[in-house]
Amino acid sequence: MIVLGIETSCDETGVALYDTARGLLAHAIHSQVAMHEDYGGVVPELASRDHIKRLAPLLAHVLAEAGIAKETLGAVAYTAGPGLAGALLTGASFAEGLALALGVPALPVHHLEGHLLSPLLADDPAQFSSDITPAGGHESALKLRFPFIALLVSGGHTQIMCVQQVGAYELLGESLDDAAGEAFDKTAQLLGLGYPGGPALAKLAETGVAGRFKLPRPMLASGDFNFSFSGLKTAVLTAVRASALAHQDQADLAAEFQEAATEVLATKALAACRQRRLSTLVVAGGVGANRRLRQRLDEAGKRQGIRVCYPAMALCTDNGAMIAFAAALRLSAGGYDMAREQCRAGGFAVRPRWPLQEI
Ligand code: KG4
Ligand code: ZN
Repeated sequence: MIVLGIETSCDETGVALYDTARGLLAHAIHSQVAMHEDYGGVVPELASRDHIKRLAPLLAHVLAEAGIAKETLGAVAYTAGPGLAGALLTGASFAEGLALALGVPALPVHHLEGHLLSPLLADDPAQFSSDITPAGGHESALKLRFPFIALLVSGGHTQIMCVQQVGAYELLGESLDDAAGEAFDKTAQLLGLGYPGGPALAKLAETGVAGRFKLPRPMLASGDFNFSFSGLKTAVLTAVRASALAHQDQADLAAEFQEAATEVLATKALAACRQRRLSTLVVAGGVGANRRLRQRLDEAGKRQGIRVCYPAMALCTDNGAMIAFAAALRLSAGGYDMAREQCRAGGFAVRPRWPLQEI
């Protein structure tokens, strides 16, 4: 079955085709970064209007790339939450309308579940040889095995989850204030790096020396799996206000911030693996693209006998492929009726706030 995936929860329009027999057929993303840059952050109304403009052309593009007609689609999956309400509604309306016209099911997907399962989506479609079966034919084609620990680090969420199987997610800990990506973005803003800040800050950090400025490692020794990043951001603010920073000072501060944030993330994620006696850690979400975080996890993971898996770099940030893939896995696991009931009231609805444990 070919599943169309549509992602419009924030500032990226993602459309993808996932074939349960052949893997990922095509995916395309339009980033709105250039549009929001002038405002220093995402402007929700502009985001919604842009998604509307992009969806149909992106769909035509992926269909052409895969060489298939839309009539061959077996289901249309879309991000139903969490995210910006208006932006979610554009993708939901498009998907529900298309599904109705084609007479196929429309499948609401939880955005974080998309991220969470994305590392299982190998970038080589040839790896997916078996079709979806209720007995989990899909899973047997995957390199990863359940259960595993997942570190979800995006612009809006920082969570450590224990993933028993598709749909069974136990929250072990989360950020009590800012998400890791948000902390990267706000710190980047303090350093005058613009939006989106995470990748820019990581780039600047490469030329800096950590340790010259001393920043805290919040909650590193708290004994639980929770995080706090707002104090770290405030510590950067204090350093920025203390004196005029030359370019090298900014780079050193960026490097120290990255060290502090990634140390806490890596330490806690690996501690969760040890506590649950699980030897696989899956990292998902935009901050999962951070090279220093990957380096720390790989090095410490190797020492501790823990395998660390990431999505392909291109699939770390928001995309339609993870939405199509999550829907395909849930479909095979029989997980759909409940999600539909929760998301719909008569017609359909989106859930801008939607805890992952409630799917
Ligand atoms: O998962 P994502 O694309 O969107 C959300 O669902 O939030 O994550 C976006 C977040 C942003 O905060 C962005 O700054 C951060 O991921 N990010 C990074 C890097 N690439 C993206 N943070 C640190 N280092 C990076 N290389
Ligand atoms: Zn995301």
